[in-house]
Amino acid sequence: MATAFSKKVAANSSSMKAAIVPRTGRSLTITKALASANNSSFQGLNVAPKNRVSSSQRSVISRRNTVTAQAKVGSSLAEFLVEATTDVKLRQLMTSMSEAIRTIAYKVRTASCAGTACVNSFGDEQLAVDMVADKLLFDALRFSHVCSYACSEEVPEPVSMGGQGFSVAFDPLDGSSIVDTNFAVGTIFGVWPGDKLVGVTGRDQVAAGMGVFGPRTVYVIAIKGYPGTFEFLLQDDGKWLCVKETTEIGEGKLFAPGNLRATFDNPAYERLVNYYLGEKYTLRYTGGMVPDVFQILVKEKGVFTNVTSPTTKAKLRILFEVAPLALLVENAGGASSGDGQCVSSLDIPINVHDQRTQVCFGSKGEVKRFEEYMYGNSPRFSEVAAKA
Ligand code: F6P
Repeated sequence: MATAFSKKVAANSSSMKAAIVPRTGRSLTITKALASANNSSFQGLNVAPKNRVSSSQRSVISRRNTVTAQAKVGSSLAEFLVEATTDVKLRQLMTSMSEAIRTIAYKVRTASCAGTACVNSFGDEQLAVDMVADKLLFDALRFSHVCSYACSEEVPEPVSMGGQGFSVAFDPLDGSSIVDTNFAVGTIFGVWPGDKLVGVTGRDQVAAGMGVFGPRTVYVIAIKGYPGTFEFLLQDDGKWLCVKETTEIGEGKLFAPGNLRATFDNPAYERLVNYYLGEKYTLRYTGGMVPDVFQILVKEKGVFTNVTSPTTKAKLRILFEVAPLALLVENAGGASSGDGQCVSSLDIPINVHDQRTQVCFGSKGEVKRFEEYMYGNSPRFSEVAAKA
């Protein structure tokens, strides 16, 4: 029976097929090439890692420039990073983070999800899962040797990591209060060049990533200057397999309205939410920002909002959460809005580590609508629309 995933892979395969039909009329599909190269499917899926393709098949594929983008689906993380950046230190950093995220996925299943450390039935002290995640990420960055400073939502002042190259800010486990309810949760991180984590903007990031811990574990990354946001699925053997590339976010009626209680005393937000309801948008909101934003990348449509009001203050932190998610969404062809102004969340100056903002992520059309409802107009998108 076809599963949702096999249908998705089949859909990817069919777009691959379209992309690599040679001009001569001789047709070759990546799916066929991979299947004949391996004479087997990979993990029961009709897709195989790129490194199992023979050199002749590789050369057929590489002769066609149009294939390059699609062929990333099926790559290992290492193969992808080689293609995405020439910076060896950045590859190291993204690999180290993937290793921490793999371990966090395991810990999320078993560690304490109480608010503080607790003692298990054997008398061992167990750290709460968000503290475990925090420690794993700091350790990974220290051992990477390419990180100068790091800070997290749990430890907001930057700590020396003893390496050189980048500084990293992260939210070790966003949504830790919904671990016990078994909703999906996630890790978010942003990577800045050099030593600075204040006096910067999100646009200065060289990369961003998130781990999503749900029924599936995925590692989602964006590399500045390399278009697209890429999803790697954790396999049974511990390896990461690229299963999706997102380069466009289209229009579609799906909404995730954060801090909905702000509609009580923010009439603009109330009107916006009423618009979604009146237009019969589908509600998809879990209260975990990672899965709630991740769905925009996977479904390639939708909008996520978290809005403030006189009685509900901004909760989302720019450095640890909003700026990295903005890079992930914008690299995928989407847009963001932050700081109660008509600006991208990537352009908010970060003056203190704990700085907070209201936010919107989504397709360009949805972010334009958000700004029009919330602030009366959306000059940056209206200008683009007028020129088009
Ligand atoms: O980071 C805080 C957080 O847990 C986000 O993951 C989530 O989007 C938000 O809070 C939920 O806020 P609310 O319950 O107010 O919608």
